[in-house]
Amino acid sequence: MTKSAAGNGHAGNGNAALASLVRPQEGEIGREIFVDGQIYERELDAVFASSWLFVAHTSEIPSPGDYVTRDCGVDPVIVTQTEDQTFRVFLNTCRHRGMQVCRVDRGNTSHFRCPYHGWTYRNDGKLIGVPSLRQAYGTLDRDRLALTEPPHVRVLHGLIFVNWDPDAPSLEEYLGGMAWYLEILFGRTEGGMKAVGTPQRSRARMNWKLGADNFSGDGYHVAMTHRHAFDLGLFGGGTMLGHTIDVGNGHTVRIQNFPEGAPVPKHLALPPEVLESMERTLSPEQRGAIENITVMHGNVFPNFSFVDAVFTTTGDPEMPPVSFLNARLWQPAAADLTDLWSWIFVAEESPDWWEEASRVTFVRSHGLSGTFDQDDVEIWSNITEANQGPIARRQTFNYEVGVRVAEVDEAWPGPGRAYGVDYNEANQRAFYSKWLESMSGANPIREEARA
Ligand code: FES
Ligand code: FE
Repeated sequence: MTKSAAGNGHAGNGNAALASLVRPQEGEIGREIFVDGQIYERELDAVFASSWLFVAHTSEIPSPGDYVTRDCGVDPVIVTQTEDQTFRVFLNTCRHRGMQVCRVDRGNTSHFRCPYHGWTYRNDGKLIGVPSLRQAYGTLDRDRLALTEPPHVRVLHGLIFVNWDPDAPSLEEYLGGMAWYLEILFGRTEGGMKAVGTPQRSRARMNWKLGADNFSGDGYHVAMTHRHAFDLGLFGGGTMLGHTIDVGNGHTVRIQNFPEGAPVPKHLALPPEVLESMERTLSPEQRGAIENITVMHGNVFPNFSFVDAVFTTTGDPEMPPVSFLNARLWQPAAADLTDLWSWIFVAEESPDWWEEASRVTFVRSHGLSGTFDQDDVEIWSNITEANQGPIARRQTFNYEVGVRVAEVDEAWPGPGRAYGVDYNEANQRAFYSKWLESMSGANPIREEARA
């Protein structure tokens, strides 16, 4: 942790202080929210303990007894498929003294035994074993001591979401129009999507919001940060065109198109088997939204991002252009530390050659070894480091791109407020508006729209 990551309270923690720091409608976001330890602590409760969070995909735990360990914010959880084939989520801490009952990434088991005193839980959370129960306790109400479960778990297109807030809105209400876009990504075929391999994991010295902010809609950085992609001809070339879509409730999508008439792959270069199924699954409007695109990316508030991208060349004459669908989590670990989780998905219908080409394209570009991730993470880490000081942290970041020039495209066929320009920070402004609402109950962009 860097010198001031624990926070020195410059920002104050009250709602008024936060509202003066986060002014998305003016395009100003105070840097304190990326470095202040007290704000970070409050986020864990106000944002992560009350939002719907993605924890795993059902294809990662396809059989009864399968499990993976994940985090909700910084709370460790176990995601299991139980004997009755339901997907359950448990806080990964023993009801006796809080030891983690499972300390590996994944596996298959009928029960979890705590390594401290040996309490044993079935994989549906029930406490079934207590060493020396009669001598130690006489009797014990074991039903009361099952592993703790969140009040809400929902599966949508294989994506397992959790919400720890008993009063949370339903997932459908929370996602609103974002469900339309998630269907394009994860519900595009009858067979559904599957995760390829295990997620890549790394830790970066950066604030988690910098990744979510970028994936929300930062088309503006591409030509500079990822200049190599243009130099190598990985994109279709020509002008950047596209839409930035403020889907509502802090959820965002950006879709970048190929220039009109460019000799480039349609429908993300998906294989015929997938396209055939997609005809029956997606609406014409949904298929139209991805017909002529290079990339679709976005963020489900707060920290679940995705990118589906096709490059005009893989650089390999043996390999035709293919696309990859990458999902990721920006998991907070400290104000200046983020765990990056990154999955690739392919449709179940994909032929083997396409799945392998998709994986290789991802690994070369957006995986841990990929050029895009290295470009981005170096920058986000630098921003986090450079803004720890008492002078820098009192400044603001500027989010004025598009404020005076972006116009809503009324012809956009999907949900949300779609702007027909590629350079626009409306999505980031919407993200921070929702963030402020989660932290304090006020949403400046929504209030401005109502006035
Ligand atoms: Fe788990 Fe004691 S902490 S059995
Ligand atoms: Fe980038």
